[in-house]
Amino acid sequence: MKFGILTGGGDCPGMNAFIRAIVRTTLNLRPQTSVWGVVDGWKGLLDNNFRRMTKMDMAGLASRGGTILGTTRVPELATDKDLQETMARNLHDAGFNYLFVCGGNGSLKASNVLDQIIKREGLRTKILVSPGSIDNDVCNTQGSSIGFYSALDKSLDMLEWIRDTASSHRRLYLVRSMGRKSAYLSLFSGIASGAEFVIMPNENVNFDDLATTIAERDRDSRIIVSESYPKTLEEIRAELEQIFERRNIKREIRAVDMGYFQRGGKTSVTDILRASWIGYRMVQDAFESCDSGFYTAYYTGHSPAPMPLADAAADEASYDTIPQEFLDFMLALR
Ligand code: F6P
Repeated sequence: MKFGILTGGGDCPGMNAFIRAIVRTTLNLRPQTSVWGVVDGWKGLLDNNFRRMTKMDMAGLASRGGTILGTTRVPELATDKDLQETMARNLHDAGFNYLFVCGGNGSLKASNVLDQIIKREGLRTKILVSPGSIDNDVCNTQGSSIGFYSALDKSLDMLEWIRDTASSHRRLYLVRSMGRKSAYLSLFSGIASGAEFVIMPNENVNFDDLATTIAERDRDSRIIVSESYPKTLEEIRAELEQIFERRNIKREIRAVDMGYFQRGGKTSVTDILRASWIGYRMVQDAFESCDSGFYTAYYTGHSPAPMPLADAAADEASYDTIPQEFLDFMLALR
């Protein structure tokens, strides 16, 4: 058998643990199988850029952030039929029996489209997909995305650091969080760090009420602003400053963006173990000649049945909807 591994979309911690699990499990259990990395994600598949992987390459990789294979965003892949056909054909021509993918919802949708072409044209490759994204917005019905908890760890550190300065200077910090439309990252880092407020993407913010909450705080205040909330940090700051002046609230405001710092760096132990577990399960199933599917898990040892790619790719709800119970949870802890 011949296996390929591809990491797609934005890099995230846990992708390397996933790669390591696939390579090690495969070569330990069936050494006659060859494993190839697709260099630079979907672009590498288009360019037939594959690299043979060995167990030695995997040394020291488990906790390293990013992806050693590289990744690219190829937005045209969503609509360009020629591109899709070429990639499906490249997988077949290269002789891959399985392609193991770790990526975001763009990668999940692309995998589903390629899988349909492969089936329609009787090509050989099966595609097994796992969710890799700090946004936690990839079909959440059976588990969370690899990388999400690592990004939360970084966010929590940054929010604690900013608290030191906020409290020393009696300042309000507006802190922008990545997370795209889904806002899981901003909401969960808000809950974990005890921030005063999290502005959700579609929040209809009552800035006067917010000013009251800030005025009631003795020293430090932090407001987390979700990436997709339409106002810039400077616009929010200007609006609040006007209210502070009118109501004689003495509080300086500063703004910072956690941005890409949330995405890089060390992988949390939860993500290392879960990415490894998912990779291990995928390889075991591939040895049993399984069909294409979407693999995830809530915890190491959790083995929900793989979902058909089409069902997982159609799960639009979890892309940008946070369940009400999480919002209630945040409000209860404020
Ligand atoms: O999907 C992960 C993510 O970091 C999002 O939170 C953010 O919107 C986006 O990627 C940024 O992407 P890029 O690296 O292409 O600028």
